[in-house]
Amino acid sequence: MARPTPDACLRGIERQRERVLAHPMAHGLRIEEVASHLAGLPARRFPSIRYAERERGMPMLQPRGGTPIFEEQLRLTRMLSDAGADFVPLTIDSCTRHNQYDTASQLLRRSEEEGKAYLNGYPLVCHGHELTRQLYAGLDKPVSLRHGTPDARLLVELAIGSGIAEIEGGGLCYSLPYSEGFPVDRALLYWQYVDRVCALYSTPERPIHRESFGPLSATLVPPVIVIVIELVEMLLAAEQGVLSFAVSFGQTGSVIQDVAVAEVLRKLAREYLDEHGFTAMQTRLVYHQWMGQFPMQRERAAALIAGSAMIAGLIDADKVVVKTVDEALGVPRPEVNAEAVDTVRYVLRTFGTPAGVSSPAIATEAALIESEVRSVMSAIFGLSGDAFWESVYRAFQMGWIDLPFSPHVDNGNRLVTMRDSNRSVRIVDPGSVPVAAHDLVTERALLATRSDAGEKTYRRMLSDISLMV
Ligand code: 5AD
Repeated sequence: MARPTPDACLRGIERQRERVLAHPMAHGLRIEEVASHLAGLPARRFPSIRYAERERGMPMLQPRGGTPIFEEQLRLTRMLSDAGADFVPLTIDSCTRHNQYDTASQLLRRSEEEGKAYLNGYPLVCHGHELTRQLYAGLDKPVSLRHGTPDARLLVELAIGSGIAEIEGGGLCYSLPYSEGFPVDRALLYWQYVDRVCALYSTPERPIHRESFGPLSATLVPPVIVIVIELVEMLLAAEQGVLSFAVSFGQTGSVIQDVAVAEVLRKLAREYLDEHGFTAMQTRLVYHQWMGQFPMQRERAAALIAGSAMIAGLIDADKVVVKTVDEALGVPRPEVNAEAVDTVRYVLRTFGTPAGVSSPAIATEAALIESEVRSVMSAIFGLSGDAFWESVYRAFQMGWIDLPFSPHVDNGNRLVTMRDSNRSVRIVDPGSVPVAAHDLVTERALLATRSDAGEKTYRRMLSDISLMV
């Protein structure tokens, strides 16, 4: 049995850290200097302090945004902040995410020479921490690192060195949806390093905040898989001494399921932390606006963004990650990105719902999801092994954690899902995921409400995938 425990905290990562920081691109970074930079920042640069000020029913707003040229990133940062973003993003380019720093450097140079973006984000490792700090001079809101990097050790050292106090990612959520072949055991170990570094730079008043990425492949992912991955990554971070953590999920496509997922995720996050002695960890809930295929028509995209803003309010998310009407076309233009922040704020202000919602259908859905999550979590806890991360890895290897539409070669791909008549994601075939037989009966009964039962499976799945277009 390998349950999460504070004893799993990595001791003596100094040697590994020295090796990571010996990289030429970490030139000039000194741990003590970074710690004093963090101590001198405005308190509101730390997510936990910002979250504490939040009004009920009014989620914090966060767009995404990254572009290679420094001056353009500065302009984008100011534009998003002026538009009302509560958290300012720093989205990293794909070359840096895959540790291809030389290619990123070449493309950065070309972008600068031609005044045109040849990278789809900000190459933080190439720019370095001293320049990146200058993006945020005078800013009194948190900056969030958004990336998708299985080995984020150097990137995160430089991000925290730049004064970025929110780090998204995790060993599963940043490898299974983003990588075809990065070994998952290595990703888990590298994320232990990241969590430990976050903890080492934290003080109780000013913790470096971690966030997991719940949308995953954003394609027919059933709640049980999302919640298990979120809980596992939260517990792995807690083991390393992280004090502030957000679990998240992507809009499911069903209002009933969104409300139920939010309820179960909040409840079980607290319960599993307390049960394992991590009572000091604070948790938050982040909601991602629709992460699947987006409509091309701007009016429809705007309607989808407005509707999902309303759901963010309904579930009283601590933060909502905002989409733009450019989503179907590519990286959003800065003006469009800023407009999206304004639109979501408008919807939240206009339709604020501080009371929350409940219904018999939501209660049934929440009970089903909770039961499934408990089954998988207790199966993982019951696995033999010396450490919790090893149990998590074994669970992945055996297909107990199986992510639909993951590009990763080692993913099980035996779990099959489809939507029911309420658009909720249902389990058709659990593959190896250890959910109870009685829960599968309920899943299938709910799925039977769907009207196109005579259609071929792949056609039904394709129509499920293009739900919002
Ligand atoms: N700027 C803004 N948004 C970005 N996304 C990816 N890269 C960037 C960027 N550089 C968005 C995509 C998608 C989500 C995963 O991130 O549009 O919505």
